[in-house]
Amino acid sequence: MAADVDKTRAKDGSRNSVQNGTGSWFWRGIWTLLIVGSVPLLAFAIKYYQDAQLLKRHEESVRILGMEGLFLFSSLDSDRDSYLSPEEFKPIVEKLTGITPPVDVEEEIIHDPNGETLILEAKMQPLQLHSMTKSKDGFLGVSHSSLSGLHSWKTPAVPSSTFSASHFRAFLPPKNKVNVGDTWWVIPSELNIFTGYLPNNRYHPPTPKGKEVLIHSLLSMFHPRPFIKSRFAPQGTVACIRASNDFYFDIVFRIHAEFQLNDVPNFPFWFTPGQFTGNIVLSKDGLHVRHFHLNVPNNRSLNVDMEWLYGASESSNMEVDIGYLPQMELKSTGPSTPSVIIDEEGNVIDSKDINQEPIQFVFEDIHWSAEISQQEAAHRLEVTLYPFKKVDYLPFSEAFERAEAENKLLHSILLWGALDDQSCWGSGRTLRETVLESSPVLALLNQSFISSWSLVKELEDLQADKQNPVLSEKARLHLESYNFPVEMMVALPNGTIVHHINANYFLDQTAMKPEEEGATFSFSGGFEDPSTSTYISFLKEGLEKAQQYVAQ
Ligand SMILES: *[C@@H]1O[C@H](CO)[C@@H](O)[C@H](O)[C@H]1NC(C)=O
Ligand SMILES: *[C@@H]1O[C@H](CO)[C@@H](O)[C@H](O)[C@H]1NC(C)=O
Ligand SMILES: *[C@@H]1O[C@H](CO)[C@@H](O)[C@H](O)[C@H]1NC(C)=O
Repeated sequence: MAADVDKTRAKDGSRNSVQNGTGSWFWRGIWTLLIVGSVPLLAFAIKYYQDAQLLKRHEESVRILGMEGLFLFSSLDSDRDSYLSPEEFKPIVEKLTGITPPVDVEEEIIHDPNGETLILEAKMQPLQLHSMTKSKDGFLGVSHSSLSGLHSWKTPAVPSSTFSASHFRAFLPPKNKVNVGDTWWVIPSELNIFTGYLPNNRYHPPTPKGKEVLIHSLLSMFHPRPFIKSRFAPQGTVACIRASNDFYFDIVFRIHAEFQLNDVPNFPFWFTPGQFTGNIVLSKDGLHVRHFHLNVPNNRSLNVDMEWLYGASESSNMEVDIGYLPQMELKSTGPSTPSVIIDEEGNVIDSKDINQEPIQFVFEDIHWSAEISQQEAAHRLEVTLYPFKKVDYLPFSEAFERAEAENKLLHSILLWGALDDQSCWGSGRTLRETVLESSPVLALLNQSFISSWSLVKELEDLQADKQNPVLSEKARLHLESYNFPVEMMVALPNGTIVHHINANYFLDQTAMKPEEEGATFSFSGGFEDPSTSTYISFLKEGLEKAQQYVAQ
């Protein structure tokens, strides 16, 4: 299994920027060994050994740092290997020295001092405290320190900022997206039903890379600690070409990001707007920005989720509330303009020279040769964000009830602790990005199955529940057919498992040769994709086997 994890990781490594700790050095070390042996038992032994090591380190850390100290330490230890790398230690250095090291500017951003610049202005009206449920009893039992970050955030961190127009190339579509209505991920989501969510105990956003740099600097105008990848799904940034002509695109986008309002020594307070949305009109060469707008939609009565911890534990000490944020908005003051222009005689004129009359730029109206409505573009973004959600994944017991009521089979996925066993990451991502999103699989699931996913731990709890013998037996049957790390199953409504396949075995069956890599991660999801057809076969075999039970 370790072999599979590493293989899939290598395949999608370029996109997998949230590196998963759980001892990747270790997997790499034994990688060659496993290719030779490929003995599942060995992988189990290693996993066991690794868990034991982690547990030992955890106990040692608690002894040295205490629970609260460990909490702070873990908030920095983003790969959760119980060691701090220089990268992970960076926020502390910045805090102690007051110096922020420059952010890496990626090569893809053309650095042109004579290029065009534009000015963005940030506006916000703070969250209306009386819109929060907790305000009804006067925030009874909520400590002042929990809300201190919220109370003190009244204005944008940076009210106005000058950007290089070429940085907005991050919003240009990839080469294969040229038509109006095409959508793509500017910042791909790294979450799925297998990975669960990212940890709550973090104060400082990870260093942004590539296109994340721009989104991070835009959101930093509101607050210094934007996390451009939210902890929970949906996560990431999607975009859609709303309109185009020979020179321009109008691109509509949607961002799922959040802010960390508290800092040490207070416990984290997460501020998660429902979404950020906006549009940018930019030239197809990405050197001129005609218009930029971003805001948090405010036409609902509540538009922000808030979660705060009040103790040094990941999940148990968490408060949740929602509220209304009247305004959070970024707008360009006008189109981007060159700082230097050259007149007819070839003289260089500094357009920003204060001694001269300011140069007036005249911009022609844009006429689109093709366009879709704002609503249509927004809808396409929605579908891009939630493709696998086109079928519902119900909780275990509800799924069985529904399967029984509709006389359908259960398509059930059982996985190891998605939250802290990051070794499931590889197979989980691969599954989601291929089979579970592909339209033929979605159609078959929708037509013939009720879908569900569960964690092993949840089913172990259900199995142990003496109060509910029927559900306990169903959980037992699931666990009986389970193999680490992810097992896909087809079950009768009475709980009998008629067919099952292990995710790593499945991925081995459908493994692509390296030269075909590109095809695996395209979002086309047609029948030509071998993993899609293998998954279809798996589901159909499940249907056939179920028939045999009924025939008996
Ligand atoms: C809010 O505005 C958007 C965009 O105009 C619209 O699509 C949406 O339906 C509105 N929502 C409500 C609740 O009015
Ligand atoms: C699922 O099936 C229903 C009813 O047949 C249909 O209306 C819906 O569009 C289908 N959804 C998907 C994602 O195929
Ligand atoms: C479920 O039903 C099938 C056939 O209807 C039967 O063979 C099987 O034993 C049942 N399983 C359980 C757990 O009752």
